[in-house]
Order: sequence, then structure tokens, then C-alpha cells
Amino acid sequence: MENRIVILNGPNLNLLGKREPSIYGDESFEGYLETLRAQFPDVTLDYYQSNSEGELINIIHQYGFEAKGIVLNAGAYTHTSVAIRDAIAAVTSPVVEVHISNVHARESFRHTSMIAGVCKGVICGFGLKSYHLAILSFE
Ligand code: DQA
Repeated sequence: MENRIVILNGPNLNLLGKREPSIYGDESFEGYLETLRAQFPDVTLDYYQSNSEGELINIIHQYGFEAKGIVLNAGAYTHTSVAIRDAIAAVTSPVVEVHISNVHARESFRHTSMIAGVCKGVICGFGLKSYHLAILSFE
């Protein structure tokens, strides 16, 4: 299997750096991606972001039979989307659910994940470093 890991960010995560910085920090994801690529020079790190549920599913289908792993921050769809859960269950690449914030320390509607049960694991609460930890989990 090729050494490709896909990072997939869901809704509102295009606003990282501007969005609620007290929760999500003040760094854009594009900036952090450069750090990640430097930290994992031997890994091909592909990055996608979409605010649309169907597009997230299409990307899971596209890479989910060939990538070494998918790091998925499904944003609020984590808590609602049976369709994303079914897409993860349908593919063969392992998917790790990540969150920047500690969702369990926040509102109760964030305590439920529709997707965790079909993911390899869940990492949350370490800020952008959650993505680094998820990539390490594929090694
Ligand atoms: C989030 C947590 C979700 O509850 C929220 O809807 C997000 C971001 C996180 O990374 O902490 O959009 O996934």
C-alpha cells in the first residue's frame, strides 16, 4: 500500500485561525500543514477540506481503498452523519477521527460521535497536534 495519508477536514474548518480562536487556536490549517509535511518527510500528505457532506463522502470513497490512512475531522458532521459513518465502514483504509478541541469537555451534543465506532481510533483535545498524533497512529 502506498505511503499516502489523506487529511480531510469538514465544515467550518476552512476558517481555522479566524474561527473562535479561544477554542481552535489562531493558526490556519494551511500553515500547520507545512509543519506537518516537514515533520513527516517520508509521507505523502494530501489535504482536502469541504463544507459539504457529500463531498466528504466522495473523498473517502476516492482514497479509501488505496491510502495508508485517512485522518478525518468531520467537524459537526461527526455528531450527526450516518452517511459519513457508512462511507467509513465501506472503505478498507483505516480512518482516525480527530478533533482539535476536547469535545467531551464541551456541550453535551458534542459528546456523541456517529463515526467513532467505525474508526480505528479517536484523538481529541490536543489542538492541531491531534493531527500529528493521528498520523503517528498509522506507523
Ligand atoms: C471539532 C469539534 C466539533 O464539535 C465542531 O463541530 C467542529 C470542530 C474540533 O476539531 O474540535 O467543527 O471537530
